[in-house]
Amino acid sequence: MIDFLGDWKRSSYCGALSADDIGTEVVLMGWASRRRDHGGLIFIDLRDREGIAQIVFDPEICADAHRKAEAVRNEFVLAIKGKVAPRPDGTVNPSLKTGAVEIIVSDCRILNRSKALPFTLDEHVDVAENIRLKYRYLDLRRPALQNNLMLRSKVTGITREYLTENGFVELETPYLSKSTPEGARDFLVPSRISQGNFYALPQSPQLYKQILMVSGFDRYYQIVRCFRDEDLRADRQPEFTQIDCEMSFVDREDVVSIMEQLMAKIFRETQGVAVQLPIPRMTYQEAIRRFGVDNPDIRFGLELVELSDIVATAGFKVFADVIAGGGIVKGINAKGCAGLSRKEIDELTEFVKIYGAKGLAYVKMTADGWQSPIAKFFTADEIAAIDSAFAAEEGDLLLFVADKPKVVNDSLGRLRNRLAQVLKLTDDTEYRFVWITDFPLLEWDDEEKRWVAVHHPFTAPMDEDLPYLDSDPGRCRAKAYDLVLNGNEIGGGSIRIHQEKIQSQMFRMLGISEEDARAKFGYLLDALEFGTPPHGGIAFGMDRLIMLMTGSESIRDVIAFPKTQKGACLMSEAPSSVDTRQLRELGLKITVK
Ligand code: AMO
Ligand code: AMP
Repeated sequence: MIDFLGDWKRSSYCGALSADDIGTEVVLMGWASRRRDHGGLIFIDLRDREGIAQIVFDPEICADAHRKAEAVRNEFVLAIKGKVAPRPDGTVNPSLKTGAVEIIVSDCRILNRSKALPFTLDEHVDVAENIRLKYRYLDLRRPALQNNLMLRSKVTGITREYLTENGFVELETPYLSKSTPEGARDFLVPSRISQGNFYALPQSPQLYKQILMVSGFDRYYQIVRCFRDEDLRADRQPEFTQIDCEMSFVDREDVVSIMEQLMAKIFRETQGVAVQLPIPRMTYQEAIRRFGVDNPDIRFGLELVELSDIVATAGFKVFADVIAGGGIVKGINAKGCAGLSRKEIDELTEFVKIYGAKGLAYVKMTADGWQSPIAKFFTADEIAAIDSAFAAEEGDLLLFVADKPKVVNDSLGRLRNRLAQVLKLTDDTEYRFVWITDFPLLEWDDEEKRWVAVHHPFTAPMDEDLPYLDSDPGRCRAKAYDLVLNGNEIGGGSIRIHQEKIQSQMFRMLGISEEDARAKFGYLLDALEFGTPPHGGIAFGMDRLIMLMTGSESIRDVIAFPKTQKGACLMSEAPSSVDTRQLRELGLKITVK
């Protein structure tokens, strides 16, 4: 039988009770998460979003409630009235906030029943993710996921408060919009009224926010959904949320300073962590040189070592040939890893091959010196120079990659992170931020045979590099900055081009014809001609930020209804087919099945 809620009003959350409440009458509502029948007494852990309270049904106190409790199964929804009492000696549970008390039930209403769950909600039991995602509403009952999403809500609140206090205006920009390139594919929405035409879901509000600066809003922000049809990974979703900001009459220092204070506030108020300000900076060049990647994890060493000069003339042909062909040789000293087996080194070799490396030469530092298949190619002087470059000691494992700079840096950069995992060098509760600055403006795309923007086409070149935009584009640095946390890019932004002439020049550099530029960005180019202030901004990836703050392994654990790697929502079964009538109205026809 199911009872009505009637006029009962909840007096407190289950998880909010403590020894301070002993003696008070309470009304609690929640889910039965565990029931133990001790012959006479029945104990139920009643759970709500704040936690668990132990409720006790004693037939001597209320026979009717006790009878109901006998019928209760996991995840039934209950309302109870009762008195908060201290737990008997020896039954106090100090690991629980409510562990010192229990509630002696005087009345009970069963508000709803539940079928047996397809999986247990126990945090310690591994359940296949596809089952969890199909029954996401049940999965979301787990305290860990609830805490992730509640932290997320807190961060949103703090962000709004801080940005409002600092004069940012929250403005909304369209979701049905025109394509804004951020380097991914667009999600398209067909127009019914204008058949054959499509809206694009925004990859970011980039152009709208710049245009709001043209309008004079001065400081804008939005906590906004962005849509990118790209290959998904553990830290990427097809729709994700940005804390998106733009400011007028500012330079890089202004943006960096106001935004790092936002990060510090978020970490202080939610984690009790003091972020040291100013956050350290590193140029892109330095990041690549020392760490191989532009999102370095600076919680550990294992820095890349440049060896090209030392090995250029050595007898190992693989290295000498690569250098003669314009490549480089770099290495990592995997401290204390000389004990790795052949199989383990082979696994590392396979790993660097994912990033294009052709091999991974290695040296084990033993008591008798180098033990390595390549030892025979080096003279004693060369060996000494290499040892010294690596600061190598007995027990170390030296790893080398020779190739084009991009391959060497990519593969060793990733290998460095992998080694840190294997060697357990990182701690999830340590937060190391770094700003990466002075990115190159453009990058040559070998496949497309043209320059592409490293950040996006609206990012301004550094004033002193502007003269080279036409003559030596590769030399131009951008007024761009990324915020990196523990090896993850959590935000990126730039000072923008605010002069129409330079923006048009930029489009030309990117191989976008004048006609194409007009068709795609005519509205921006027009707006830039009507008194555009200098401006710049940034966007933070909210999901990634929360993922790092909660130590989650996947971005899916901080999003209420995430998509799988294949872009599907297993609960609602989106994407799905649509009626032929809907297609007809849109003037669309499906040609492939
Ligand atoms: P950018 O493309 O660098 O910049 O995006 C900003 C931040 O958004 C996060 N992010 C993602 N998070 C989850 N899933 C994704 N698929 C995904 N893609 C990006 C990252 C990233 O740092 N308009 C510019 C910002 C600007 O210039 O102001 C932009 O979108 O954490
Ligand atoms: P090989 O002479 O091809 O048998 O290679 C000898 C060692 O050098 C092996 O351990 C290879 O993994 C390694 N090696 C081959 N090519 C490269 C390269 N481009 N960079 C680094 N190591 C390499």
